[in-house]
Amino acid sequence: MGILERRVVAITGGASGIGLAVAERWVADGGFAVLLDLSDENIVAAISQLGAENARGIRTDVTKQESVDAAFASIVQREGRLDGLMNGAGIGRPSPTAETSDADFEFLMSIHLGGVLRASRAAHSLLSASRGAIVNISSVAAKNGMPQRASYCSAKSAIEGFTRSTAVEWAPDGIRVNAVAPGYVRTALTDALIAEGKLNDEPIVSRTPLARFADPQEIAAVVSFLLSPDASFVTGHSLVADGGLTIDGNWY
Ligand SMILES: NC(=O)c1ccc[n+]([C@@H]2O[C@H](COP(=O)([O-])OP(=O)(O)OC[C@H]3O[C@@H](n4cnc5c(N)ncnc54)[C@H](O)[C@@H]3O)[C@@H](O)[C@H]2O)c1
Repeated sequence: MGILERRVVAITGGASGIGLAVAERWVADGGFAVLLDLSDENIVAAISQLGAENARGIRTDVTKQESVDAAFASIVQREGRLDGLMNGAGIGRPSPTAETSDADFEFLMSIHLGGVLRASRAAHSLLSASRGAIVNISSVAAKNGMPQRASYCSAKSAIEGFTRSTAVEWAPDGIRVNAVAPGYVRTALTDALIAEGKLNDEPIVSRTPLARFADPQEIAAVVSFLLSPDASFVTGHSLVADGGLTIDGNWY
């Protein structure tokens, strides 16, 4: 099968963690993945894992419109189509709110929320042509009030509002837009926070009814469903995949 006959997905933050697991899943299902990621090191490792015939990486900074535009121009030129977009580029940087600077707040908002806007805007005409789908990665932080994470909780809550708004606005263009709100997932992001002492995995596991972190593949399965024609009547939804963390009434 030629590359132009294969379904193409673009994944921001696609060279690690949840994004890489979505790429693996997409490739396993016969598609081609374009990883838009800031880290050259992560891109090289991811492409050697996925195979250069199944994926390519474009060094992209989602905080910079020109970088995002260049990435999508490259997709137009090389792949000539786009069927799905997953917006997952993100960082975790907890800090006491009273000590959070404007610059830190705006930087985190720019990666998470601004990144979703920039990539979705750049992908709109390609996805309209293919009647494709977008999945934005939210978090249980959009549902729970987590101390020292006011910027992150704000960004993820706003991503869910952005998801609903674009789902309605772009429905006539044939584009579905959904969000996935993962609970805690074993990735480089959570490993780093645990190593820095900013995340304690023991209470998370004991507070989660399924009593563990997710594997990235379990989140990829949910993203894959929402990007697929199986979800053809689902739009504007935020699908929680958290092992029961947010519905737990056991405290009572
Ligand atoms: N791991 C979890 O427990 C968890 C839970 C809920 C939500 N999330 C969200 O899932 C998404 C992916 O997280 P992950 O755990 O897979 O993290 P990860 O650190 O494994 O992967 C994130 C990727 O994003 C890239 N990235 C960072 N800044 C970027 C930028 N400016 N432009 C482009 N790429 C950039 C990094 O290079 C990295 O490859 C994030 O939005 C995160 O907030 C994660």
